[in-house]
Amino acid sequence: MARAFAEIAFTPAVRKQQGHNGSRHYADLLSDDRHGGDRLGDAERFFVEDRDGFYQATVSETGWPYVQFRGGARGFLRVIDERTIAYADLRGNRQYISVGNLDGNDRVCLILMDYPNARRLKIWGRAVTFESDVIDADGADGQAERIVVIHIEAFDWNCPRHIPRRYTAEEAETEMAVLRQKNAALQAEATELRRRLAQGASV
Ligand SMILES: Cc1cc2nc3c(=O)[nH]c(=O)nc-3n(C[C@H](O)[C@H](O)[C@H](O)COP(=O)(O)O)c2cc1C
Repeated sequence: MARAFAEIAFTPAVRKQQGHNGSRHYADLLSDDRHGGDRLGDAERFFVEDRDGFYQATVSETGWPYVQFRGGARGFLRVIDERTIAYADLRGNRQYISVGNLDGNDRVCLILMDYPNARRLKIWGRAVTFESDVIDADGADGQAERIVVIHIEAFDWNCPRHIPRRYTAEEAETEMAVLRQKNAALQAEATELRRRLAQGASV
């Protein structure tokens, strides 16, 4: 089987552009039959379940792409099996654009970002929604209105180039705690040295 994402993304128009821009050989390497790319392995499973948000693209019935951020408590995006992921869709601004789009076209494309480690995973799939007003949002803020189950057709790890290093307030706090501890130790040492100097002692 060819690399699954290439089967989906390398349309005739895309292939034409690859030829035009001199990357046909590289594209051929991704399209030959040495690869898979439609079943999540351990690396993908860990990465998916460690996210606290992702970007989800849907397609409207008028053909417009639509991208929206989906967020929740870390781990709200779950791996059900090697070809299925799911998340609780929380009540938001009540526009229902993504879920309305899914009624007409079940295709989704997700981008999952890990900014501190400059990693990025793209997932293509088909989504099914299960409405409910009693689903437990599992610690996430807000009420879950539905479960979105995505049957994976392809995924692809992107190269890290140009991914900015960003930290959430929570991640930055972990780093800051270490720095605060070091700073406190240095301040205590400086105070002690000043005290000894004031007493005329040799430091
Ligand atoms: C009160 C309120 C709460 C929201 N809570 C969330 C949330 O928990 N997670 C999230 O990703 N977006 C949240 N949002 C942002 C968007 O409303 C949410 O992503 C929404 O589902 C957008 O869907 P749509 O663009 O597909 O219509 C919230 C917005 C509002 C106004």
